[in-house]
Amino acid sequence: MIKLHGVTKVYSRESVGIRDINLHIKAGEFVSIVGQSGTGKTTLVRLLIAEERPTKGQIFVGDWDITNITATDIPFLRRQIGVIFQDFKLLPQKTVHENVSFALEVAGETSERIRKVVPQVLDVVGLGDKWHRYPKQLSGGEQQRVAIARSLVHRPKIIIADEPTGNLDSLNTVEIIEILKKINEFGTTVLLATHNREIVNELRRRVITLRNGEIVSDEREGKYRL
Ligand SMILES: Nc1ncnc2c1ncn2[C@@H]1O[C@H](COP(=O)(O)OP(=O)(O)O)[C@@H](O)[C@H]1O
Ligand SMILES: [Mg+2]
Repeated sequence: MIKLHGVTKVYSRESVGIRDINLHIKAGEFVSIVGQSGTGKTTLVRLLIAEERPTKGQIFVGDWDITNITATDIPFLRRQIGVIFQDFKLLPQKTVHENVSFALEVAGETSERIRKVVPQVLDVVGLGDKWHRYPKQLSGGEQQRVAIARSLVHRPKIIIADEPTGNLDSLNTVEIIEILKKINEFGTTVLLATHNREIVNELRRRVITLRNGEIVSDEREGKYRL
């Protein structure tokens, strides 16, 4: 589902994001990418959604070589990959329902489809009853659940979460991870970048550890050690 062959990202002479990463993630896996701040987790995420281009190496999503993806193809890639960030990135002037439906509107979906999909994805995250609220009328955990719902609207094969619980307390963290587990059980490949040791160790799934932009361990049922 995701393959990286010798991928290096050099930002500048003094700043390297990742170095010579080789990685293969199969369909349906739940993989955590861990490591301290500045080790290249976000760089890896940004390369996968083509927000950055690799300096060296090749990147595949499905059978698609996205290494030199063109601007016109990027929207098609982004429909295959749902992304969730630490800061939710919701539109403050729009309600929950509008935030989620907006992602479908900009993709040119019909209003009939939008009416069908939005309640479905809000149900997945347990927010069916709060569709009329504005982001500031929700807790942090609820806001992140809206972001997750929005990431699901195109039925992506892959969900990438970059520090999704970085702004949340431990109770909300557990909730978000439970939702990601549920999405993974539906068959979606999940990639979770985090420096939260507790979540990763409780997941008992594959753990890839980065240090200084390099993979220092890749364990099938890993523990996060520094
Ligand atoms: N846009 C950028 N320009 C220059 N250097 C960057 C940029 N983004 C990240 N870096 C550098 O790349 C390295 C990895 O950063 P990042 O991928 O954000 O790590 P993480 O997400 O693990 O904290 C760091 O040394 C960081 O300073
Ligand atoms: Mg980061």
